[in-house]
Amino acid sequence: MTNHIIINNKIKSFTKKIKVSSDKSISIRSVLLASQAVGVSKISNILESEDVINALRSIKKLGINYFKKGNIYNIHGFGLNGFNGKENTTINAGNSGTLARLILGLLAKTRSKIRLIGDKSLSKRDFSRVIKPLKLFGVNIKSKKNLLPIEILGTDFLRPIKYDENIGSAQVKSCIIFAALNTPGITIINSKNSRNHTELMLKFLNYPIKIYKKGNYEKIKIQGLGQIKSFKYDVPGDISSASFFIVLTLLSKKSKIIIENVNINKSRTGIIEILNKMGANIQLKKKSFYNGEEIANIHVKSIEHLNAINCPPKLNSSAIDEFLIIFLVAAKAKGISKFKELGEMNKKESKRLDLAIKFLKLIGVRVVRFKNDISIYGNPNLILSKKFEMKNFLKDHRIFFLSCITALTLGGKWKIHDKDSINTSNPVFLKTLKKLGAKIN
Ligand code: S3P
Repeated sequence: MTNHIIINNKIKSFTKKIKVSSDKSISIRSVLLASQAVGVSKISNILESEDVINALRSIKKLGINYFKKGNIYNIHGFGLNGFNGKENTTINAGNSGTLARLILGLLAKTRSKIRLIGDKSLSKRDFSRVIKPLKLFGVNIKSKKNLLPIEILGTDFLRPIKYDENIGSAQVKSCIIFAALNTPGITIINSKNSRNHTELMLKFLNYPIKIYKKGNYEKIKIQGLGQIKSFKYDVPGDISSASFFIVLTLLSKKSKIIIENVNINKSRTGIIEILNKMGANIQLKKKSFYNGEEIANIHVKSIEHLNAINCPPKLNSSAIDEFLIIFLVAAKAKGISKFKELGEMNKKESKRLDLAIKFLKLIGVRVVRFKNDISIYGNPNLILSKKFEMKNFLKDHRIFFLSCITALTLGGKWKIHDKDSINTSNPVFLKTLKKLGAKIN
């Protein structure tokens, strides 16, 4: 079967209401926390993408059973440290940095040696950021050059730690929180702002966790050895998946979209703040709180005039997965947009900062880079007519999505490889585009 798509036409104007895939970060966390609860947790609207399916497969290999009935995953946990993997069990996190890093935290006390592996992209990513704090807890963890495969053997003598998390990584913060669950005493993390779904979910579950906001940092105190009771959870839509449809609408002619039931947690909505600063009028309506998370409908209209932005780095963490598509908007805006301190983008599923610059140059956009800062010279008249071929992007789902939205809004004749990369986070991406009228072969 072919694994590429062809897009030869821009999308025509559309007015539609859509739903996007469920949130990936929240889906993975809900599966992992259900595996540590006592009894059967029921989770609806789990994102059925490869990253989340790998989370389900991993807990199963570690002795946690689940079954699906209708739209609900029933996950049968045995409480904290209830994993029961046989000696030398291998779990495969596939493409998911989130699954790999979070599950290592839950394995801090595992009685049998577990081996963690991943795909080509994950095997290039650095795990020192979680190995370091886990070793401080007393966990036995082995890897060559801080890369996968990793071998982990827990200990009964975990000690609480006080840790400064200065990267601003939710995966690191969450790994430490998960290890702290199994550790007697109070673990304290001073964490540079990053998405806070783990903390909110634990609060929702009445777990003894305290959070103190301090400007760009939060201080988190976790009491170890509490209990998580089985729970019900409903996963909302993913703002990261919505972002591609937001930009599709903004850059198309005379179009409107309403994206229903999207998670609008402030640690994730940097894209909306950034695009509104550039002149978009994206509105959040019907806001409500649900299971500790805020959700809303996102209303977007096409816009003729967009202005460049000097993007404040304090917004970086809340837009970190969205910069690829934000750069496309900057390419169409009037003036020179500046983005700073984006080194973390190169630590993702691919070296996204490097690839984004290559991509922008490919479509004729002037970009100047200084270390991890970039300036994008926007051109409101940018249209494409040449042939383009996208391949060798390490199957990074978000590079695939970016290529499709570029083709549909700027034109050109596009051949985009590695279609199956969409399964990482949004298996219905192409279906949703077609529903909006996109012609894709
Ligand atoms: C994620 C955290 C982010 C993000 C990733 C998902 C998570 O990475 O880029 O796609 O679910 O915790 P960081 O750990 O670098 O914040």
